[in-house]
Amino acid sequence: MTYNLLVYDTKYGSTEIIARWISEEMKDIEVKKAQEIKSIKDYQFIIIGSPNYDDEPLKSISQFIEKFKEDLKEKKIAIFVVCNDLEEMEYKGKKVGGKYNLEILRNRLPTENIVLEEVFGGVLNAKILDDEDQDKVAKSFSGIGRVIKKEDLIFMPIMNKLDLGKCKEFAEKLNNL
Ligand SMILES: Cc1cc2nc3c(=O)[nH]c(=O)nc-3n(C[C@H](O)[C@H](O)[C@H](O)COP(=O)(O)O)c2cc1C
Repeated sequence: MTYNLLVYDTKYGSTEIIARWISEEMKDIEVKKAQEIKSIKDYQFIIIGSPNYDDEPLKSISQFIEKFKEDLKEKKIAIFVVCNDLEEMEYKGKKVGGKYNLEILRNRLPTENIVLEEVFGGVLNAKILDDEDQDKVAKSFSGIGRVIKKEDLIFMPIMNKLDLGKCKEFAEKLNNL
């Protein structure tokens, strides 16, 4: 019987890689995208992973939490976020990055049921972003005083913060819970 469910979603693939790296280290686990899930009744432990976009989890993850909010009150929960800003900082008077990225997800859940949480770095590759996201990334540079045109983003180096070791450590902690 499967006791564990890892629920995730991704836009450009990093959260999917992290979900796979975690699940490969675990037994009795099913991995599903948030929008595929019809019921969580059969699982005891729910692991929820979302990338951060504009200081928010993906909509499908928020919808999953809303849809199953009553069931989630009865479950053991672990959460992880995937993002680019691993360090906490203050930006325009707002605390962002690192543990603050986790708070956004945590605050939507029955916090007393959360037994483990982690922040993972993902991949930010400007070349593969859709038009709207390229606009946002270009604008975020002007927000920190650098003017970058959208068409110049193809020269931006790929920011790859994936960390297999950290995923294995997280999975090991999950196995011991
Ligand atoms: C338009 C856009 C907005 C983003 N907003 C944030 C953010 O608010 N905080 C952060 O730390 N990372 C942010 N990121 C970085 C993503 O969270 C990171 O690239 C993540 O790995 C994406 O996950 P995915 O590949 O699973 O979609 C943003 C990236 C894009 C393209």
